[in-house]
Amino acid sequence: MTIRVNPLIEALAPYIPGEQPQGERFIKLNTNENPYPPAPEVTEALTDAIQNCSLQKYPDPMALSLRTAVAESCGLQADQVFAGNGSDEVLRLVFQVFLDGTDQEKVGILEPTYSLYSTLAEMVGAPVLSFPTAWPEHSFPEEAIKAPVKVFFLANPNPPLGVQYDEELLERLASYDRRRLIVVDEAYVAFAPLNALAVMKRHKNVMITRTFSKSFSLAGMRVGLALASRDIIAQLNKAKDSYNLNALSQVAAESAWRADAYYAGRSRVIVENRQFLADQLRLRGFVVPESRGNFVFARRTNAEELYQALKREKILVRWFSAPSLRDGVRITIGTREELNELLTAIDRLV
Ligand SMILES: Cc1ncc(COP(=O)(O)O)c(C=O)c1O
Repeated sequence: MTIRVNPLIEALAPYIPGEQPQGERFIKLNTNENPYPPAPEVTEALTDAIQNCSLQKYPDPMALSLRTAVAESCGLQADQVFAGNGSDEVLRLVFQVFLDGTDQEKVGILEPTYSLYSTLAEMVGAPVLSFPTAWPEHSFPEEAIKAPVKVFFLANPNPPLGVQYDEELLERLASYDRRRLIVVDEAYVAFAPLNALAVMKRHKNVMITRTFSKSFSLAGMRVGLALASRDIIAQLNKAKDSYNLNALSQVAAESAWRADAYYAGRSRVIVENRQFLADQLRLRGFVVPESRGNFVFARRTNAEELYQALKREKILVRWFSAPSLRDGVRITIGTREELNELLTAIDRLV
């Protein structure tokens, strides 16, 4: 290329999202989407919005109605809530706002974890300190508590294994050094027993991120949240696009947030199906750690071959080439029918 590219971007190995086949019919268990449709109220609100809201006008730049609804049920003020174009946008803004690309400003992560964190760090030139969790329990590595970093990203539950760390651990991580920002990524919190809201309220250096892509069945609408002190939220607001959340996404997310009884029921079924799938896979000789997300990580020999063979059968699961993960596949919890089809295919193939 003759035009000089930002060297950080030129050297970047881009984040590779899971496959999203368009058109062909697959049983899709590879990107932790929800197998169930959004609540009927969401469809109604969207239909109404298409008919009655003026799509020729810009949306509310501050998504105030959505943020107020979220704040009310979390016991926060609206200015402690940020709404973004997926939690990926929120995470990207955290890098932009808090990291200046010098060696002093490092990022801390667990290994393994959501791989976007290290891609975003590379993008801003922030060095990454990663702390391996140890097989088989994947407990939190003690040295990470004292990590000399500016921002620590902790997905909790942590994909692709699904371990959730408890409040006492979060408390220690938050209080060790108050100049460190602790981002607790709660993308999968609806499938887990705990959340970090109380810790966030006690500590101004803790931010929670959430998404509507998993438990709210709205991956296609791209909505994510940050919950934090008003000082942190004010900085995110400065760096965001003016109209980062489109009009229909705002409507969909707010109506989904208010339909919590519907989603709680669906999440309960997903948790039951998670137990069913883990048990069935263990019976078939897979090693499956306890997961608190809407996925399980199942280890066995020849995992990559299994992923390829399932794909030929039109069943997509996720295989990662990283050395600590290449002996397993991550499987999203689908409907019971989808999981039975998966198990039948595994019995045929293995
Ligand atoms: C831990 C974690 N955080 C964030 C995301 C992205 O969420 P969103 O769809 O809101 O960008 C994912 C998606 O898989 C995830 O696993």
